[in-house]
Amino acid sequence: MKKVMLVFGTRPEAIKMCPLVNELKKRSSIQTIVCVTGQHRQMLEQVLATFNVVPDYDLYIMKEKQTLFDITTNILNRIKEILEKEKPDVVLVHGDTSTTFAASLACFYLHIPIGHVEAGLRTYNIFSPYPEEFNRQAVSILSKYNFAPTQMAADNLIREGKDPNSIFITGNTVIDAMQHTVKEDYTHPELDWVGNGKLIFITAHRRENLGESMHHMFRAIRRVLDEHPECKAVYPIHMNPVVRKAAAEELGDCSKIHIIEPIGVFDCHNFEARCYLCLTDSGGIQEECPSYGRPVLVMRNTTERPEGVQAGTLRLVGTDEEMIYKNFKKLLENQEDYNKMAQACNPYGDGHACERIADILEKGTYSPWVSE
Ligand code: UD1
Ligand code: UDP
Repeated sequence: MKKVMLVFGTRPEAIKMCPLVNELKKRSSIQTIVCVTGQHRQMLEQVLATFNVVPDYDLYIMKEKQTLFDITTNILNRIKEILEKEKPDVVLVHGDTSTTFAASLACFYLHIPIGHVEAGLRTYNIFSPYPEEFNRQAVSILSKYNFAPTQMAADNLIREGKDPNSIFITGNTVIDAMQHTVKEDYTHPELDWVGNGKLIFITAHRRENLGESMHHMFRAIRRVLDEHPECKAVYPIHMNPVVRKAAAEELGDCSKIHIIEPIGVFDCHNFEARCYLCLTDSGGIQEECPSYGRPVLVMRNTTERPEGVQAGTLRLVGTDEEMIYKNFKKLLENQEDYNKMAQACNPYGDGHACERIADILEKGTYSPWVSE
């Protein structure tokens, strides 16, 4: 029996790892162990409950306004004992968070093989996104199995000299998670509030955007909303108090925007599928919106998800107020431009990524995902 431990700690990791937990649990020759770091608390628990995943271990590390030092050192100190006790044959980590990096470092110190889910995403700017670009490059140095979501991600790893036999193109597990979320008959009071208006869906949380950039984003959004009576914005806000303070200062008294608590992933996908357009600095939302044909203005200076930009659904608009304002306004006022961006496509997978990863771990063989 092969012992596979999955370690994750934040909302997006949980959304992309829980479907894999449930797939691995179906495999009779694999013993699946789940360890959450608790880098997130409420936002993590929301996802675990959605996918009915009950962790075997919880490191409970989250603190208000935690620093990168807090997260990294607390995980390293708390996970050692668990890894030594369980002695997994392989540890699966996901993506690019501090949980991903610290758990991988702990495995390296204990000579435990690592499988990296969502491997190979790159901006090649070590400070953008920060610290995620470092985290994912660092994990690639250590990982034995690299589960690349797309051909482009696999190509990055090959260019960096990774053994091609360690790279598997699986599609992104978020597309697996999305298979059952969007419903025709979905309703929500916030959608009733928007009514026949245009729903603008907003999220923002990136560490490098905290401060001036986030104020720029919010001011730009507010200016456009004030000029466009047909638009109403819904913004499920991240729990980071720094984000909340900036949003309260810039948007608190704006009647065109509803700032609501984080919504569950089923709600989030249904909002995305119904929005007119989305403004975000999120990574995962850049993967989800293209399949609903919902244009995304990415409020960042770099993206590690070029597939969506190439497909035309994502547009990188930076974090400067004027740039966001102009791009947002143009997309609302130029129907031709909007129609070009609103092309449904799915460059990130076919919904079978978890089966492929489980096959590789269980049987050593798989059938790669090939995008159209
Ligand atoms: C983390 C990841 C980022 C990922 C994001 C997803 C790192 C360095 N960053 O950033 O890559 O995109 O998660 O959302 O790994 N908080 C709560 N409850 C929660 C979650 C957060 O109160 O459930 C508050 C806490 O005060 C916490 C703060 O938010 O200190 C920031 O959380 P943290 O995990 O450090 O950073 P994120 O911006 O969430
Ligand atoms: N999401 C959610 N509820 C929300 C906002 C986002 O379930 O209120 C989901 C979203 O569908 C996506 C993921 O969270 O799957 C993205 O997480 P986040 O933006 O926090 O992190 P990132 O992807 O940037 O690392």
